[in-house]
Amino acid sequence: MNSTELFDRSKKLSPGGVHSPVRAFKSVGGKPLFFDRAEGPYIYSVEGKRFIDFCLSFGPNILGHRDPDVARVVAAVSEKAWSLGTCEPYSLELAEFIKEEVPFVDKLRFVCSGTEAVMSALRVARGTVGRDKVVKFNGMYHGHVDGMLVKAGSGLAGQGASDSAGVSANVASETLVSELDDESLVDELFKNHGDEIAAVIIEPLPANYGLLIQRKEYLEHVIKVSRDHGSLVIFDEVISGFRIGMQGMAGDFTDKPDLVTYGKVMGGGFPVGCYAGSNECMDNVAPSGSVYQAGTLAANPMGMAAGLATLKKVKEENVHEVLRDRTQRFAKGLNDRFDKSDVPFQVSYKESLFWIHGRTDGPIRSLKDFPDGQAENFMKLFHGCLDRGLYLAPSAFEVGFMSFAHTDEILEEASQIIFDSAMEARG
Ligand SMILES: Cc1ncc(COP(=O)(O)O)c(C=O)c1O
Repeated sequence: MNSTELFDRSKKLSPGGVHSPVRAFKSVGGKPLFFDRAEGPYIYSVEGKRFIDFCLSFGPNILGHRDPDVARVVAAVSEKAWSLGTCEPYSLELAEFIKEEVPFVDKLRFVCSGTEAVMSALRVARGTVGRDKVVKFNGMYHGHVDGMLVKAGSGLAGQGASDSAGVSANVASETLVSELDDESLVDELFKNHGDEIAAVIIEPLPANYGLLIQRKEYLEHVIKVSRDHGSLVIFDEVISGFRIGMQGMAGDFTDKPDLVTYGKVMGGGFPVGCYAGSNECMDNVAPSGSVYQAGTLAANPMGMAAGLATLKKVKEENVHEVLRDRTQRFAKGLNDRFDKSDVPFQVSYKESLFWIHGRTDGPIRSLKDFPDGQAENFMKLFHGCLDRGLYLAPSAFEVGFMSFAHTDEILEEASQIIFDSAMEARG
């Protein structure tokens, strides 16, 4: 059966035919392809066509798909245990490795997704501080936790309203939304609500609405104003954690976040998430403390072993440095070609993340800096790439992920495909 037939069958069984909305290609148009195999930098459609993959399951596969070293470990563990629901050594080994690499984390708890990690961290923050409200930033995605499906309706910081049906007004009212890259709005929010705010949650490298690289002073300001009001700071590093360095973005700051959330890379392609933080916060989690959080499949041996094998290899092979260089060469190379041919695209990048967008004069740090026509231009680029055998995440606002399996040779081919597609998209 081909992708179209499978999608038609699937639509009868799941909402929109998918199990996570972006997969449906709604924002790029056309019908989604079905893929049933992946290896290194490639994914293969059911029709047998090979694609260079820059979506990489939306970030987890930092070594590429099914890295052979990780695969061996997973195969060995699968002979021993799948899910135990008991104390086991696999999570202990991963926790010890993380603790060694991320010393500012006192304790951590494994869960099964980034959403769960965020939901739990918010509960711990509220339980620790004894306040209800949290601050998030316009355009940031923190998983589908009810209270996080909220953004500012206008450019002004203020009370949130939900973007999703089914979120109660009460829950939405506990989320205050500010804008990135504007200290005065965060200040105003704290001036008006400071004594009600349990925590600020922020992606220190926002990568869910394009790649919005923040000024360090801005992030430091957010941390300071939270501290000044007795609120906690949560860094959501579900994307950046273990991808841009072992310590993620938090490693760059002297004043560390109280809580951090991880997922994606940390699970090596398996459903793993984690929240971590200071003893002051984490000792409030059950059974030590009164903030309840639990999970049937939490610390699943296969995910724990895959995560550990991935992180060890990332460290041993200096993957972060390698990917930083590769991404830089790749993005700069594309930008040069775009410039020379006057193609209206541009690549922003940081570490192993990149984002292709329309041209702008300055950096894109918040939603107000977005170039016009991003969605329409990307749609053409996306389909051009797809036709030529390259898979970008199917949304103009998703970033591209680089993996260790994307060798220079493959990146050369990818660069040509993206350039040709951009020329075609220009019309
Ligand atoms: C920053 C951030 N937080 C949380 C999540 C939710 O993670 P998951 O999709 O594993 O639930 C995501 C997912 O993309 C994310 O990018």
